[in-house]
Amino acid sequence: MGKKLLLGVNIDHIATLRQARLEKFPSIIRAAEVCEKAGADQITVHLREDRRHIQDKDVFELKKNLSGKLNLEMACYDEIVGIARKLRPRQATLVPEKRKEVTTEGGLDVLKNFSAVARTVGKLQEKKIAVSLFIDPELEQIEMALRTGAEFIELHTGAFANAASELAAGKEIRKLIDASAFANALGLGVNAGHGIDYNNMKSILKIPHLHELNIGFSIIAEAVFIGLDKAVEKMIKLMKQYKGGY
Ligand code: PXP
Repeated sequence: MGKKLLLGVNIDHIATLRQARLEKFPSIIRAAEVCEKAGADQITVHLREDRRHIQDKDVFELKKNLSGKLNLEMACYDEIVGIARKLRPRQATLVPEKRKEVTTEGGLDVLKNFSAVARTVGKLQEKKIAVSLFIDPELEQIEMALRTGAEFIELHTGAFANAASELAAGKEIRKLIDASAFANALGLGVNAGHGIDYNNMKSILKIPHLHELNIGFSIIAEAVFIGLDKAVEKMIKLMKQYKGGY
């Protein structure tokens, strides 16, 4: 039996819906509670610089009301780093951010931005926040991630999820498998996320050494039809097949 694969549910899009009408509902606190009750191990939210969905007030209310772990996705902006240091979530996942993107597009380029990333990692760790770096499955990125002092990486699964053919998807899964094995050998914890859904989970489960998956859009989209609790339970049921990869 492999180690339990943990699920972080990204509830940004509950806030997207709320912000579409600038209403007080749907409540992200209620959403987080439903996810936790359905078995989610972690709630993930991205406090973007443009505040397009999650707001400052949300992250502080979540921290107060969650029974499990809060994972704050964030870019290396001073303002956001300041908020994270005040908030002290259990984990922060550093992501790149572009104003015009619909969602996070690529992984963090730790090679190019080493000093800014390492500085942010240090500032968060000072407050006892575990840090994960969202990176593409590339060996040089993993080596540099280790050098920042981060405890975890989150492998960007978007290239796999968006692959145009089965052959291309197979190549991307191979990259993810190799990247995870490499990171694990260096002593890094390995998470994964982006574009994971009910159909492609089978391939994701081939990746070894996974600690947690962060999944948002597919769960929230399925919730429209079957309810948030059932959508979370349905994902967890698939994840229970995890035997440690390969
Ligand atoms: N992990 C990270 C770092 C992300 O930026 C996102 C998207 O916000 C996710 C996971 C979740 O991706 P998706 O919504 O495609 O499941």
